[in-house]
Amino acid sequence: MRQVDVVIIGAGAAGMMCAVEAGNRGRSVLLADHAAAPGEKIRISGGGRCNFTNLNASPQNFISRNPHFCISALRRYTQRDFIGLVDRHGIAWHEKTLGQLFCDGSAKQIIDMLLKEMNRAGVELRLGTTVDSLAKEGEGFELELSGERVRCSSLVVASGGKSIPKMGASGFGYDIARKFGLALTEIRPALVPLTFDENTLAPLKPLSGIAVDAVVSHEKTKFREAMLFTHRGLSGPSILQISSYWREGDVISVAMLPDVKVFDVLRAARARNGRQALQTALGELLPKRLAQLIAENSGIETHLADISDKQLLVVEKSVNEWQIKPAGSEGYRTAEVTLGGVDTDGLDQKTMESKTTRGLYFIGEVVDVTGWLGGYNFQWAWSSGWVAGQAV
Ligand code: FDA
Repeated sequence: MRQVDVVIIGAGAAGMMCAVEAGNRGRSVLLADHAAAPGEKIRISGGGRCNFTNLNASPQNFISRNPHFCISALRRYTQRDFIGLVDRHGIAWHEKTLGQLFCDGSAKQIIDMLLKEMNRAGVELRLGTTVDSLAKEGEGFELELSGERVRCSSLVVASGGKSIPKMGASGFGYDIARKFGLALTEIRPALVPLTFDENTLAPLKPLSGIAVDAVVSHEKTKFREAMLFTHRGLSGPSILQISSYWREGDVISVAMLPDVKVFDVLRAARARNGRQALQTALGELLPKRLAQLIAENSGIETHLADISDKQLLVVEKSVNEWQIKPAGSEGYRTAEVTLGGVDTDGLDQKTMESKTTRGLYFIGEVVDVTGWLGGYNFQWAWSSGWVAGQAV
């Protein structure tokens, strides 16, 4: 039977970071993944340029049943630490918007950087490898990895969440957590487009492809970013962000002209040119097809001169307080992350080790710490992977 210090399951962002750190501490590390290539989600992230962190990353950008859990790891390995690593590898990057950092070149540069670091740290990477069995044996663990029996003192679960099953995502990490008696919070697709039922969708279908800069709110949470009408519902960054807060049956509110006092602008237009049609006046503020639909839906397809103040207020509401009840989401097929996961109550926030099974660690997306859109999820993968790497 082979003996190594550390087995890590999952060669994604968190697993590779943990492997580098553990290897650099002189631990013998075996990093196993059932996929044919490491870091597949890194490769497709950020439209192929990997939004690898966010300049403004702080605990407020993460959702968890215990919002304090992520503080320690995010403080010990910060976005500046990761930027330092990227800089040491000479990878050029830029800030796109809202503190989001992307590679100038390709996401593959981040994967190559981690592979180089792993190589230097003496990490053994085993791809196309399945975990056939796994059990606690004495002080350590015994695994069967594609037929080979391996014993280790630390076992790190870095197998990610359930999003994009086509890329090998599985519920494997959650099964291991359950096996060792760890609680899970509710898991659901997040950072995902929202869909409408047929009745809601029918009048909106012609808007498919139109984007607006919007403020999208769910209760007290709001995001201001682009919103896109799709052939099934709504997408775009502001919708992906709010999807992490929305639940079936909830209403979201959308302001499509958040900086414009629509009532005042339409009233001024009415005073200037009463013969102008409402949809023409709105069309100066919004994409034409959207303006037309708002005019149609408010039942006021007439000249501004014939529209009362009360009716203008109705129009303003449908532009800046559009209340809409999505029917569902596009699900794990397109979700960028899985919300929820291994309940942080069962983990040590400084090391990510299970409080009840010594030597067992959970890092990255499998844990109930979910970042906003914008590089936060990778930062959590780096930070949680790094702290576990110091402890295994
Ligand atoms: P990750 O999913 O990266 O890795 C898990 C690994 O475990 C995989 O390699 C998988 O093959 C392996 N595995 C799973 N089950 C296994 C099993 N049973 N046996 C062996 N191996 C197993 N975030 C961000 O911050 N910026 C961004 O730009 C993007 N962009 C983005 C785009 C798209 C399309 C998606 C789907 C996601 C993003 N994300 C993102 C989210 C980000 O990719 C995600 O949060 C991290 O990759 C999570 O890192 P982990 O290492 O935890 O899991």
